[in-house]
Amino acid sequence: MLNSKRLVLAHFWLAFVVFGLALLLGEWQMFVRSPLNPWISNSELYYRSVTAHGSAMGYVFPTLIAMGFGYAITEFALKKPLIGRRWAWAGLALVAVGAATAMIPVSLGLASILYTFYPPMIANPFFYIGVVLVVVGSWIWVALMSINMAAWKRDNPGKPVPLAMFANVAGAYLWGWTAVGAAIEVLVLILPVALGLRSTIDAGLSRVFFSWTLHAIVYFWLMPTYIAYYTIFPRAIGGRLYSDEMARIAFILFVVVAMPIGVHHLFADPQVGAGFKFIQSVFTAMVALPTLVTIFTICASAELAGRLRGGRGPFGWVAALPWGNPMMLAVTFSFVMLGFGGAGGLINMSYQLDASIHNTQWITGHFHLIFAGAIVIMYFAIAYDLWPHLTGRALDSVRLMKAQLWLWFVGMIVTTFPWHYVGILGMPRRMASYDYTNPAIAPQALSVSISVFGGLLLVISGYLFFAVLIRGHRAPQTDPGVYRFSVAVHEPVRLPAALNGFALWLVLMIGLTVVNYGFPIAQLLALKGNAVPAVYVGAAR
Ligand code: HEM
Repeated sequence: MLNSKRLVLAHFWLAFVVFGLALLLGEWQMFVRSPLNPWISNSELYYRSVTAHGSAMGYVFPTLIAMGFGYAITEFALKKPLIGRRWAWAGLALVAVGAATAMIPVSLGLASILYTFYPPMIANPFFYIGVVLVVVGSWIWVALMSINMAAWKRDNPGKPVPLAMFANVAGAYLWGWTAVGAAIEVLVLILPVALGLRSTIDAGLSRVFFSWTLHAIVYFWLMPTYIAYYTIFPRAIGGRLYSDEMARIAFILFVVVAMPIGVHHLFADPQVGAGFKFIQSVFTAMVALPTLVTIFTICASAELAGRLRGGRGPFGWVAALPWGNPMMLAVTFSFVMLGFGGAGGLINMSYQLDASIHNTQWITGHFHLIFAGAIVIMYFAIAYDLWPHLTGRALDSVRLMKAQLWLWFVGMIVTTFPWHYVGILGMPRRMASYDYTNPAIAPQALSVSISVFGGLLLVISGYLFFAVLIRGHRAPQTDPGVYRFSVAVHEPVRLPAALNGFALWLVLMIGLTVVNYGFPIAQLLALKGNAVPAVYVGAAR
């Protein structure tokens, strides 16, 4: 029984409305930079749009999904009302007000600095204040997740925390800590300049703080997806989770190794030494571990489901899987995109190979394939799974759901594969227009046009998604029954403290951050004369 239905629905709907608007901006960007459109007359409009699209998709949308899903998990998994519901509403209000506060200067052309802030460019202070409010709103969620788990553990001494809640809290802690980097950057380094108290900024140091946030944020985006793989997918396809403990280890690994790796975003920046770049490159390789554990465990869980459904022989279980089930389809597509995106990521994480694709369209292709593809397709699946429990109405447009998921998958491949290709040919990212009459660029024209078509498929899919949800609100009332998470083959009866809590792992997470970031930050702080004049964007001041 969910007591906080309205709270969860409010988070999901706000997230999806933001997503729907930003999706249109994405397709507009794709169109104006393609040969199908003459050069954009005012390229600043392009950067305005990319800032809005990137900030909405990168900060607001996934944060709201993680928060809403987290509240639902808390009540479903712990089987008790959420502690601090009023605070949760306050957190949502902060995110909403923050998003609006940030977007107003963006839409006025006073903050076209992209979602990575890009100092020494400086935007209108309200852009940063808005981002800070979004983060503070999400920190309320982090605190609530921790408080709810602690209260449950007090009431149930020695019992294993339900896996979904354990994973949810892992995501919350990871976000709570990783957001600190950008918070320091904004509050200490950027805002004083934006407010006119200083006129120079140490751009190198700022970017190091941002990289602290920039990579682990990806794993924060990914957490709801992984939680769904482990705790919804096996149940939805009629199987069992292969191993509860493996799942816990995967989430713990994310908490520990996702943080101290962000310097791989600075491979081409001069302010961090080669040694620390190499160390963080190695740590980046380690973050593949939890994903490999996950792929193994989820495939094993799928095999169990296939065999329980009567599949025989080495491959008969694959045919026996419920391919008509939207969750089955979503996870399959998600895995395929994760596979391609992960393979591309091997190039990005390598200190040497990265040089060949650095700041090219390859990067845009890579993160859209992983984030907008593998991750977001599971956000759809999560909504489909939860909706009847949130609305008390059946979600019966299964054909529409399948069409929507297929379109998202095909659209994402058609959009991002050509991006990877033109990236290899050297097309830079974050450019408003390209001269396709130039013989050096002409061969990229066809690929970019194909991407525009892929984007169109994505827009259609995005709006089909809305159609499914809205139809769900209008469907006849039904009793969806008790919400269930997947059950493991061997449900743990007792667990070692390390698999049932985070004390040790938080120490490691913070310790590794200090080891991997302490020296570069201290060195930059000690060096004098690094600050450069701020470049105010638009009429930012
Ligand atoms: C119709 C679908 C979409 C299209 C056509 C699209 C297109 C684009 C384009 C053209 C850019 C600018 C790239 C550049 O100038 O280098 C961009 C940036 C970005 N997109 Fe999308 N996008 C779509 C959906 C999404 C989704 C669903 C997400 C995530 C949920 C997303 C996240 C981002 C982010 C974070 C950026 C900022 C990148 C930067 O500042 O370099 N996009 N997108």
